[in-house]
Amino acid sequence: MRVDDRTLLDDLVAAIAASPNRARAAESLVEMLKTRLTHYTWVGVYWLEGDELVLGPFLGKPSPHTRIPLNRGVCGAAASQKTTIIVDDVNSDPRYLACSLETKSEIVVPIMRGATVLGEIDIDSDRSAAFGAADRTLLEAVAQALAGCR
Ligand code: SME
Repeated sequence: MRVDDRTLLDDLVAAIAASPNRARAAESLVEMLKTRLTHYTWVGVYWLEGDELVLGPFLGKPSPHTRIPLNRGVCGAAASQKTTIIVDDVNSDPRYLACSLETKSEIVVPIMRGATVLGEIDIDSDRSAAFGAADRTLLEAVAQALAGCR
């Protein structure tokens, strides 16, 4: 399925709304994104606990980065700056913390309630420059829906 297919966003938002809590909603969205978007090689959600990002549900190879301080990684940068970060070539970004040797590009989208960061959606691709405006729009809408959960 293409990222800009409206049905995918509708299905994601419906699955989040049908979930009993935010943790279960995160599990559903990780599963749906990984299954339906073939360029999403690794899909995970980190939750902010104090000044660390703690890995929640994910699909893909196990990551060594299960706890990431806010001052480390692309993940830490996105949460600190409260903005989506797209990295077209992870090997040329000094912030990048490697999860898999095959990873070429990454997108990290904060999950925000107002100005408060609750966590983030982190996606890696084995394709370089795999993420663009359509991914950003989709994932920011999903992050907003997730932030609205109980
Ligand atoms: N690449 C991330 C670390 C998480 S793994 O990709 C799952 C980063 O640079 O923060």
